[in-house]
Amino acid sequence: MEHIVDQVSLGAIVQVRDRLLEQQARGRQVLRLESGDPSFDLPPHVREAMEQALRDGLTHYTASTGIPALRAAIWRKVTQQNGLKVANPDQIVVTNGGMNGLYIVFRALLYPGDEVILPDPMWTEIGENIRLGGGTPVPVRLRAEQDYQYDVAAIAAAITPRTRAIFINTPHNPTGAVASRATLEQIAALADKHNLTLVSDEAYEHVIFDGKPHVSIGALPGAQERTISLYSLSKTYAMSGLRVGYVVTPQPLMLERLKKLVRCTINGVNSIAQYGAVAALNAPQDATGAMASEYQKRRDILMDALAEAPYVTAFKPAGAFYLWSRIAPAWPGYAGTRDDWSMTNYLIDQAGVGSSPGSAFGASGAGHIRFAFACSTAQVERAARLLPDVLRRASPGVN
Ligand SMILES: Cc1ncc(COP(=O)(O)O)c(C=O)c1O
Repeated sequence: MEHIVDQVSLGAIVQVRDRLLEQQARGRQVLRLESGDPSFDLPPHVREAMEQALRDGLTHYTASTGIPALRAAIWRKVTQQNGLKVANPDQIVVTNGGMNGLYIVFRALLYPGDEVILPDPMWTEIGENIRLGGGTPVPVRLRAEQDYQYDVAAIAAAITPRTRAIFINTPHNPTGAVASRATLEQIAALADKHNLTLVSDEAYEHVIFDGKPHVSIGALPGAQERTISLYSLSKTYAMSGLRVGYVVTPQPLMLERLKKLVRCTINGVNSIAQYGAVAALNAPQDATGAMASEYQKRRDILMDALAEAPYVTAFKPAGAFYLWSRIAPAWPGYAGTRDDWSMTNYLIDQAGVGSSPGSAFGASGAGHIRFAFACSTAQVERAARLLPDVLRRASPGVN
């Protein structure tokens, strides 16, 4: 019998990153458009709070669910900003980034063979964490013709007696689509009808453009009791390496299981990072808005460049920092293969530009490529200058 961990891949984006770093080590300038790691420095008040915590010797074990000051700050944020009904900070579990939150949520929620409906394409780690929790991912396609919005009828059709949960991610990685309130209301009604749990990953809640609102499904009538909401400070405050996220659930049994899982795995997030997180959440949120405007600028630079480039058609994202693009069948690298790695490899070799092959995001991602614009504006500008030309130069046989 195959070990459950052997079902998990080593990660396509990691492979791209390794190739880029190898080229960089050989002295080549590389552009990191494969990575969803915010380029910005840590907000200064967050760094100062962490330095102060170090000076104060706050380097001991903390409560495994998070220090009280952090859970209180999160409680204020999720009740006031997200509109979640959370009775008290004890319904919050601080996790080692959103990724750890995903792992413990699916581990706590699923019985062997339970099905979880998730979008396709989707960030690979979602399906993998469902598998690690003993479940079976059931992908439901997002379609370009529907602007990658959740297709509620298709979700309804995918429900079986084994379905335990519907996974929602908005803003969405990799398409950047933002779900509307109306769509989320329909999904909430569906979950209510079939008595399903909603798992809502809101890691990109603050990376959102053109004044679009972010709606938390857990705040909608009928969804409050059945939603487990996951958040991360990685993208909102450019704190990716500090590894702070959190899970919110009103369900006592889930909460109990989550508490057991954090105690037996991470036993609390790095204490210094938690003090930084308190400062991030309690201070004015100007830096977050400024970062979102800069991402929007980068999006537009890259959209304009890809509009000039042959073989790729980019979808304009309303949130997150990814340009999801369809590769034309005429792409010379497809000759005989239809393998989207050919474009990713070609762009690394010819221009030192990173990207992620669409097939890494699920079956429907085949024939697509994802460009991230989380790297610096200077890198995005340089990539924008290079991409149209380098794609124009592609000739049959590229790989
Ligand atoms: C959809 C989605 N959820 C969650 C995360 C978790 O990020 P972290 O573990 O840094 O909080 C990411 C990171 O890329 C993501 O794309």
